[in-house]
Amino acid sequence: MTATQLQIGPHTVTPPVVLAPMAGITNAPFRTLCREFSGGKGLFVSEMITTRALVERDAKTMRLIHFDGSEKPRSIQLYGVDPVTVGKAVRMIVDEDLADHIDLNFGCPVPKVTRKGGGSALPYKRNLLRSILREAVTGAGSLPVTMKMRKGIDDDHITYLDAGRIAVEEGVTAIALHGRTAAQHYGGTADWDAIARLKESVPEIPVLGNGDIWSADDAMRMMRETGCDGVVVGRGCLGRPWLFGDLVAAFEGGGAPARPTLREVAAVMRRHAELLAEWLEDEERGVIDFRKHVAWYTKGFSVGSEMRKRLAITSSLAELDALLAELDLDQEWPAGADGPRGRTSGRNRVVLPDGWLDDPYDCAGVSADAELDTSGG
Ligand SMILES: Cc1cc2nc3c(=O)[nH]c(=O)nc-3n(C[C@H](O)[C@H](O)[C@H](O)COP(=O)(O)O)c2cc1C
Repeated sequence: MTATQLQIGPHTVTPPVVLAPMAGITNAPFRTLCREFSGGKGLFVSEMITTRALVERDAKTMRLIHFDGSEKPRSIQLYGVDPVTVGKAVRMIVDEDLADHIDLNFGCPVPKVTRKGGGSALPYKRNLLRSILREAVTGAGSLPVTMKMRKGIDDDHITYLDAGRIAVEEGVTAIALHGRTAAQHYGGTADWDAIARLKESVPEIPVLGNGDIWSADDAMRMMRETGCDGVVVGRGCLGRPWLFGDLVAAFEGGGAPARPTLREVAAVMRRHAELLAEWLEDEERGVIDFRKHVAWYTKGFSVGSEMRKRLAITSSLAELDALLAELDLDQEWPAGADGPRGRTSGRNRVVLPDGWLDDPYDCAGVSADAELDTSGG
């Protein structure tokens, strides 16, 4: 494997750039946009799919696992807490040829998930983690299974090195580490040293670094400083799908980062809304879903709070077009639009089930209701 390609089972990802799964964001339309900017290079992971909802064939979930015909490899992220249900979901994916790669989510920090022992709380229970990974890898057959996790619950309960060894022992193909604890949520800065330590501790498999990549330079720096095999980029792409083009260019040896004018940004906004409308087969729902992206796309431009509000209540493409036409479209890319965007706040405490931290090795499972019954965000 050379430094600029990443092997995920049979899939060679060149350059080694991965779109982070983001619930409510990385659906087929957003992945399409990012792929258009990357020239199809890189790996683009779906938003998280709950294993229970998948095996129950929940209608929303079935839409979320839709891939555009040209997406290769098709990459699904699963969230589950029960080894049996995870195994069933994975076998369904294999039997029905629903994806080419499965990523497992052990990083979710939201209270409704950790309160039940799911997401980023789960790797603390080493045996439960091992059972889930075993079911997934066994059920997946020749499909590669990767996992994505955080450093641990908090600074006193760090789990990533143990989880990394367990993952290797159970046949996981690659690991992505978000360099924060669940307690940090999205606050502070990601600990890239932890990514370097994981890389040293699991030399058998690729390690992907995640956290605080806001530019292609950041990605290159993470590769250099941590020795990781690839990068996973999340919030940096919110309202900036062209970051994928920058990433590819940087790995391929150069090119200045894209600095689109507001006119160019408006065209991407229009395309994004249109792709959502097509995907949902409903223009109004598509444009309503697009609303959450408006503030990210317009960040730093002189748009005015009144106009931002109007843009955020549009419900048709014609209305969106009319508002975009009112903007001063000749504005250059604003310096203030670089850097952090999306969620950046921390939390003080991780909500856990009673007694969760008493024994990291007990063999108790997690209550069935820790499975979310919906997918995505
Ligand atoms: C809106 C949003 C939704 C997210 N949803 C998921 C998810 O479904 N699965 C997951 O593993 N991580 C999820 N994450 C975490 C990201 O994948 C990523 O680990 C995190 O944002 C840190 O990377 P970044 O600094 O590049 O944003 C989400 C993050 C955000 C901001």
